Amino acid sequence: MSGSLFATSDLHVSYAENRTVVDRLRPESDDDWLIVAGDVGDLFGDIERTLRLLRERFTSVIWAPGNHELWTHPSDPVTLRGEERYRALVRMCRDNGVLTPEDDYPVWPGADGPVLVVPLFLLYDYSFRVPGVTSKEESLKLAYEAGVVCTDEMLLHPDPYPDRESWCWARLGETRSRLDATDPALRTVLVSHWPLVRRPTDVLWYPQFAQWCGTDRTADWHLRYRAAAAVYGHLHIPRTTHYDGVRFEEVSLGYPREWQRRSSGPAPMRRIMGAR
Ligand SMILES: [Fe+2]
Ligand SMILES: [Fe+2]
Repeated sequence: MSGSLFATSDLHVSYAENRTVVDRLRPESDDDWLIVAGDVGDLFGDIERTLRLLRERFTSVIWAPGNHELWTHPSDPVTLRGEERYRALVRMCRDNGVLTPEDDYPVWPGADGPVLVVPLFLLYDYSFRVPGVTSKEESLKLAYEAGVVCTDEMLLHPDPYPDRESWCWARLGETRSRLDATDPALRTVLVSHWPLVRRPTDVLWYPQFAQWCGTDRTADWHLRYRAAAAVYGHLHIPRTTHYDGVRFEEVSLGYPREWQRRSSGPAPMRRIMGAR
């Protein structure tokens, strides 16, 4: 197979400029796959329209949710909250032929494969705290004082869990069981909206934001689960880094005000596997 495994995230299609970028997003060959690592949009209908469009173009589309998909936005006719909203997104993906964290992990069969492509929904648990503090409460207080508060606090409801960290920990438990049962001979591409390790958040403009960006409990997953590459988004700082010898790819498009100031313009997708 001669195609490539591409990845994108943070398409944020509520912005007209981003919809134009998505309209131009095309595979390079009939065998290309596309990973969509969350933050497609805020509204259920926008998320569905975009994933359906991408699935019409790419032979396989693999989605993992971001925080924006999980928001219950006041202008969304779909008023489901928390786990119910996630389950509705998964059903919508299945209706449109898009793979989710709830499906069997597909095997990328390319020349540099095979690798197991693993979309993850893990959320965060406030363990990437402001340095020097010892509790979520203290860390959140500092964020509020600095005026750096993720909108998730208002719109990402954890129902039926008591809080977002409990939902995160439940997801970690379920996901660990599935990953432990995968073929130990197969390498993986781990895909999570939030980075699996904290290091990428070291370059955040507002360091207080890190607490909404992941969990310490996945710090060794790229090694434990044999990652050939780890794909993430959320930070809107697209780049390639290596941790413990493993390639991490932040694949986000980001907001127009972010990509418009880059001389290279918008970079809507990155090649993760496959030859140019
Ligand atoms: Fe985003
Ligand atoms: Fe995000």
